[in-house]
Amino acid sequence: MNKPTKTIKLHLACGTNIVLGKGWTNIDLDTRNNRNIKKHDLSKPLPYKDNSVDMIFHEHFIEHLPKYDGQAFLRECYRVLKSGGVMRVGWPDTARLIRAYTFRDRKYFDYISKNVDGEVNSKSWDELVVDFFYSWEHRYGYTRKHLKSVLGDISFYKIRYKKRMQSDHGFDIDLRDDPATTYIEVVKP
Ligand SMILES: C[S@@+](CC[C@H](N)C(=O)[O-])C[C@H]1O[C@@H](n2cnc3c(N)ncnc32)[C@H](O)[C@@H]1O
Repeated sequence: MNKPTKTIKLHLACGTNIVLGKGWTNIDLDTRNNRNIKKHDLSKPLPYKDNSVDMIFHEHFIEHLPKYDGQAFLRECYRVLKSGGVMRVGWPDTARLIRAYTFRDRKYFDYISKNVDGEVNSKSWDELVVDFFYSWEHRYGYTRKHLKSVLGDISFYKIRYKKRMQSDHGFDIDLRDDPATTYIEVVKP
């Protein structure tokens, strides 16, 4: 009889948002001396075998990698996932930012402003929209359409945008609750 394979779930670039108790491994470059975080530079290949991982979750990370490193990282996610394995990505949709700028969405901009420098209403819309691209060590940006197309080119399928805490695959760890996070789920065929 074949040995049952181990279930592996990866929470990548977890920051301080550590998921405990559900078989998850939390990974980040910065471990903050926390023994619940495994140290790994995600711009390097993932330390997992081909077709060995069941679930991958990351939020607010893909925009921290330069364009082609980000695509290489997503290809690594594809490589390590088992067939039928699933990934959920949360990220700040660039088109949403541009819409918020165009239509003067005060709630969105107050959120960005507070997170750029701790203050609300201290900057013009024009200053803030550019700050968004250069803050938090962002290296790239994705609209929904663009990320969907990159994931499709890698051969992920069943690509679906999702609302917070809504999942087709049992993900229930959206740790952020803010207007600047969009979610997408994909499956490896
Ligand atoms: C904006 S934070 C997001 C943290 C958490 N996911 C959240 O949503 O609050 C980005 C995270 O990516 C991590 N990070 C950035 N570059 C990395 C790399 N090359 N390898 C691993 N982690 C990295 C940072 O240490 C940080 O924890």
